[in-house]
Amino acid sequence: MGCGLLAVLAKNGALIADRSGRDFQVVTVSARDKNREREADISAYEWHDDPLQLADPQKVDVVVELIGGAEGTALDLARAALSKGISLVTANKAMIAHHGDELARLAEQSGAVLRFEAAVAGGIPIVKTVKEGLAANRIDRMHGILNGTANFILTLMEDSGASFDDALGQAQALGYAEADPSFDIDGVDTAHKISILTSLAFGAPPSMDLPIEGIRAITDIDIAYARELGFRIKLLGIARITDDGKLDQRVHACLVDANETLSKVGGAANAIEAHGDFVGPCMIEGLGAGAGPTASAVMADLIELARGNRNSTFSMPASKLKPLPLLETGTRRGEFYVRLRVADKAGVMAEIASALRDEGVSVERLIQRTRASDDSVHLIMTTHQTTEARMQAVLSRFHKIDDVLDTPCMLRIEPI
Ligand SMILES: NC(=O)c1ccc[n+]([C@@H]2O[C@H](COP(=O)([O-])OP(=O)(O)OC[C@H]3O[C@@H](n4cnc5c(N)ncnc54)[C@H](OP(=O)(O)O)[C@@H]3O)[C@@H](O)[C@H]2O)c1
Repeated sequence: MGCGLLAVLAKNGALIADRSGRDFQVVTVSARDKNREREADISAYEWHDDPLQLADPQKVDVVVELIGGAEGTALDLARAALSKGISLVTANKAMIAHHGDELARLAEQSGAVLRFEAAVAGGIPIVKTVKEGLAANRIDRMHGILNGTANFILTLMEDSGASFDDALGQAQALGYAEADPSFDIDGVDTAHKISILTSLAFGAPPSMDLPIEGIRAITDIDIAYARELGFRIKLLGIARITDDGKLDQRVHACLVDANETLSKVGGAANAIEAHGDFVGPCMIEGLGAGAGPTASAVMADLIELARGNRNSTFSMPASKLKPLPLLETGTRRGEFYVRLRVADKAGVMAEIASALRDEGVSVERLIQRTRASDDSVHLIMTTHQTTEARMQAVLSRFHKIDDVLDTPCMLRIEPI
């Protein structure tokens, strides 16, 4: 990302100076290894082995932190800069999700400015959209595809019929997934981003206290059945305020109506939709990662600083951010998709039906398919509205039936 930022300055420096009224100068840089081969030539800049030395108010107006990680050097640098009154621009969603409240307070106390446009959905200007463009609205819901790697894998599985492992391998070979892809495919990266959006939209400090599920358990079979039922499977970050004022914040793969615009957002793209009480639904789509889009967002923050925009870190001063009561997961209502592989025997359906009846869950659609290779049968059902708690009770009943051969797969159907 650091080299991407230097590339933006090298190519568009004059235009940026005209637009911002300031000439940006890179004064000093740091990284782990000074001599590593890089895409940008950094030999002209003062070098520090210790990144904390960058936080010198005699030398710099703003520190750009592009190290990453919720803790460690990135956080030390952020604290050092902000406590000395030096503004900070960062792309670090993990740090903002875990320490955004503390850093915002630190910035306010010292008179520094903290900006993190690139931390949520890379090049998409969703932070500025919520903070500024939608500032007049009471927002009651935000949801979106916030991780390009996961979306790339799901799209590949859908388009080519590839298994999860094959799609992940291809994503890694093409540079869309890292060697350790866990934050992307386990939903943690999406959780960082939705917790930041929650803060911007609902005025709560960012919190990682939310249920998180990723896409490792999604099979090509579920993708195919979802398509047959008129859905696509997407990893979504969702944050909404319930009618009784609770925060329903979660990350999971879910079935989205195939006709929805969000369903059609494919490959490594990201898209976010916000619902405001006056603006209605408002959606932005674009590239959520990569050197170009991310550097574009980092530079936009720097331009905003140069123009003198010193508004709060989140949508209001840190002292006004208030934690919201959380919706108890079991009480959340929705429709569900369930796939079971069962033995092709008499009596299995009766056991399944009684589990559903006992827990008060009614089925909306049921598909039964015999598999040619063995004598097992796939049962795919979608339910009417029920609670998450009832659904979990049904699943544990299914699990105990001897003729249910695999762990049942359950996905939520998300109305958007
Ligand atoms: N990649 C994306 O598409 C993307 C998109 C949005 C946001 N972001 C965020 O942007 C940030 C940077 O991501 P990246 O992909 O550019 O990561 P990266 O390629 O791993 O680069 C990290 C940089 O930080 C330096 N660094 C690491 N540990 C350090 C330490 N202890 N002290 C000093 N320097 C250290 C590295 O130095 P060396 O060069 O010497 O190794 C490298 O220059 C992260 O917060 C990430 O979440 C990335």
